[in-house]
Amino acid sequence: MSGNTATLTIGDKAIELPTKSGSVGPTVVDIAPLYKHTGMFTYDPGFTSTASCESQITYIDGDEGVLLYRGYPIEQLAEHGDFLETCYLLLYGELPTAAQKADFDYRVTRHTMVHEQMARFFQGFRRDAHPMAVMVASVGALSAFYHDSTDISDPHQRMISSMRLIAKMPTLAAMAYKYTIGQPFVYPQNNLDYPSNFLRMCFSVPCEDYKPNPILARALDRIFILHADHEQNASTSTVRLAGSSGANPFACIAAGIACLWGPAHGGANEAALKMLQEIGTVDRIPQYIAKAKDKNDPFRLMGFGHRVYKNYDPRAKIMQRTTHEVLNELGHKDDPLLEVALELERIALHDEYFIEKKLYPNIDFYSGITLKAMGFPTSMFTVLFALARTVGWIAQWKEMIEDPSQKIGRPRQLYTGAARRDYVSPAQRR
Ligand code: SDX
Repeated sequence: MSGNTATLTIGDKAIELPTKSGSVGPTVVDIAPLYKHTGMFTYDPGFTSTASCESQITYIDGDEGVLLYRGYPIEQLAEHGDFLETCYLLLYGELPTAAQKADFDYRVTRHTMVHEQMARFFQGFRRDAHPMAVMVASVGALSAFYHDSTDISDPHQRMISSMRLIAKMPTLAAMAYKYTIGQPFVYPQNNLDYPSNFLRMCFSVPCEDYKPNPILARALDRIFILHADHEQNASTSTVRLAGSSGANPFACIAAGIACLWGPAHGGANEAALKMLQEIGTVDRIPQYIAKAKDKNDPFRLMGFGHRVYKNYDPRAKIMQRTTHEVLNELGHKDDPLLEVALELERIALHDEYFIEKKLYPNIDFYSGITLKAMGFPTSMFTVLFALARTVGWIAQWKEMIEDPSQKIGRPRQLYTGAARRDYVSPAQRR
């Protein structure tokens, strides 16, 4: 590769492909002209070496364990800011002034109620429905209620739908939880901040007063910040692809929720906690490490490994600190699950297999212990991930919609199926 081009030689033919460099991170080779010049496609299942878009929102350096939101290190945002400040930053690109923050908080707060008929929508589910199934359905159903913010060509409607999604996700998530435990839905309170409102909608009951624990609210707010965005992960790519067809934002976010649900992605926090519960005690860790290393055993250490981070996930470090804070506040500092998690991490980080494959704890390894201690059932863990990631999905969707070069996403394939053949009548089939 030289200057701003890369030369690809195929047989006796050499073609020049333009390259593009970002403000930081790997340079890309623009292969758009490849098919026209060579009649060939590139082949990269899982997109391990493929940049699907240009973005200015989030940067990850997997080798260095760096995560920046609009250039700001995640550690600083989690330490000094709050989740709605991070939402503003991801959506608009700059940290808000005090006046901008006050206005943003005010607008989000006044969109937290959902249409009253949504409550009847929930009645159609069985009480034992997984809350993620309820979230996929109810977020998609928002497009049936808010027709005045589904025209994606109108910047004002895009802004309104963005605010509605950020504001209503906690309300819908709390409704999904309350419905599974047979308790009445709790309306949002405008005098509470974002995390406190969510805690109250989840854990208060009409029979007594409820005062959100400020330490738990701050911890939850920080957990939301850590989960807010993560460049072109599977669910964000799903939202971008759905949005590229012109689908309305509620449908696109519902598609993102569906993708996040998988245990290899956002479902890993639920799977990681179940794994720690299955291991149970420190003495059983070696047999599970052996299973994770056994090629013939599909078992993986949930909450370990990452497609991009080949160093410690910077979010996992902050998550671990938050876990200790919450367990200490709740008097669970001797939680046996934390003991198993800390020992499992210690053993894995010294094991040749994990070192060679650069497998480190990711954000999902500690989040489950924290959320369980706060009183959330495991089935709600990925719901909270989706709640927090909604702003990232929206910011990425907004960036794509506002990109003048945007077109519908339509990958090609390597076809290895049957060549053309003629129909055989049933009588002649063997
Ligand atoms: C999230 O993309 C994102 O940014 C996602 C996310 C976000 O914020 O959006 O960060 C959130 O999804 C975090 C990841 C949560 N998932 C898990 O914790 C599930 C367990 N982890 C793995 O399934 C796996 O590590 C992935 C899916 C996360 C990454 O898989 P890759 O990049 O496709 O890597 P791979 O599966 O090819 O693994 C490389 C090697 C393999 O061994 P070999 O075939 O090369 O011999 O490492 C092994 C794997 O077998 N390996 C593991 C392992 N993860 C990978 N072995 C044991 N335990 C594990 N957890």
